[in-house]
Amino acid sequence: MSANTIEENKQRGHFADADSLWLFGYGSLIFKADFPYLDKTPAHIRGWTRRFWQGSHDHRGTHEAPGRVATLIEQAGALCHGVAYHITPDVFDHLDYREMNGYLRFTTTLTFQDRPAADGLVYIATEENTAFLGAAPERDIAAYIQHKEGPSGRNADYLKDLAAALRALGAHDDHVFEIEGHLLALEDNGR
Ligand code: SIN
Repeated sequence: MSANTIEENKQRGHFADADSLWLFGYGSLIFKADFPYLDKTPAHIRGWTRRFWQGSHDHRGTHEAPGRVATLIEQAGALCHGVAYHITPDVFDHLDYREMNGYLRFTTTLTFQDRPAADGLVYIATEENTAFLGAAPERDIAAYIQHKEGPSGRNADYLKDLAAALRALGAHDDHVFEIEGHLLALEDNGR
């Protein structure tokens, strides 16, 4: 079932009164920045790991056939690489709409390569949201997403674009690269 987090995110109000803030992107926000930003730079956060465990009814799937997209799962000692955008709070309306299917705004500490760490914002779909699909083996996730598609495009392209963007950042992600490997093998086999 799809979720709608727009109202809850408005009430959370993190950074709403700030002149500007850092947004951490780890999924489609890495490779699709359809919003204005003041600056963009590689960053990582600690204690979270990227997983294709969130259902997508509005972007890479449909209500009848939801796709699978990235969310973050808490894991002690984990490090998640992504991209930080320096934004102004007026971008929240757009971001809350884009991330409305289960994602809530959380605060987190961003570590940068070229400047001091700073607190910022990240959208996370926790397991309580009704669109959460949960864990599955990487091979099964690849088979699941292979033919899913939604208004934002093919689910397989979300995975491949993310893998390419992580490589461009010099970041390794076992989970994403393993799904990609299975997906490419399925495509090669014409299945
Ligand atoms: C993100 O990219 O940071 C959030 C998840 C997504 O939109 O794919």
